[in-house]
Amino acid sequence: MHLHVADHPLIAHKLTALRDANTDSARFRQLTEELVMLLAYEATRSVAVEDKEISTPVTTTTGTRIAEPRPVVVPILRAGLGMLDGMLRILPTAEVGFLGMVRDETTFEPSAYADRLPDDLTGRQIFVVDPMLATGGTLAMAIDFLLARGARDVTAVCLVSAPEGVQRIERDYSDSAEVKVYTAALDEKLNEKGYIVPGLGDAGDRMYG
Ligand code: PRP
Repeated sequence: MHLHVADHPLIAHKLTALRDANTDSARFRQLTEELVMLLAYEATRSVAVEDKEISTPVTTTTGTRIAEPRPVVVPILRAGLGMLDGMLRILPTAEVGFLGMVRDETTFEPSAYADRLPDDLTGRQIFVVDPMLATGGTLAMAIDFLLARGARDVTAVCLVSAPEGVQRIERDYSDSAEVKVYTAALDEKLNEKGYIVPGLGDAGDRMYG
C-alpha cells in the first residue's frame, strides 16, 4: 500500500480551518471542496492518459487526454458526498458509483446500506473519497466491494487519517491490489470513542447536521 501525506502550506491552512470547532457547516463544506481539489491534484498523479491529436491555431500537435475506460469516483455516504463535487471538478469525465456505509458507534464495525457501483470495474481506476480514515473498517469494506467487482487500482482520498486505520489498510492489502491512500494529514491516534485525535469531529454531522 502506498501512503501519501500531503505536505503543502495551503492544505495545512485549510485543514486547520476545517478542524476548528467554530467553523460552521457552510464554511466546512466549502473548505472540504477546496481541500479535495488540492489533494486530487496529487492523487491523480498516476491517472491513465493517452495521446490526443489536436490542431492549435498554429499547427497540429500531439497532446494528452484521460484514457478510456473512464476513472470511477466513489464517495462513501454520507460524509464522502461532500468531497464528490471537488473531485469531479478535477476529473469531470469520471463515472460515479456510490457506497453508503455507517459505523456502529460502540463496536466501530461498519455496515453497508447502499451499493450503487458499476457492475464491472475491471481495468478501471477507482478514487474512493471519504473525509476520515479512523479504524479503517469502512475503507476496508469499501475496498472489498471494489475488488469483488474486478477493480485492482484503488486510490483513497481522505482528509484526516489515524495511524490505526492506515496500518489496517497496509496489513489487509499489502499485495492483493494496488491500493493507495492520499491524506491531507496523518493524525496522532484514535480515542476511546473511535474519534481521530486531534481530528475534526464527525465530518458527516459537521457537513449535514
Ligand atoms: C465516518 C467517516 C468514515 C468512517 C470512518 O462515517 O466518514 O466513513 O466514519 O471510520 P472507520 O475508519 O473507523 O471505519 P460515519 O460512520 O460517521 O457515517 P456518516 O458519514 O454517515 O456520518
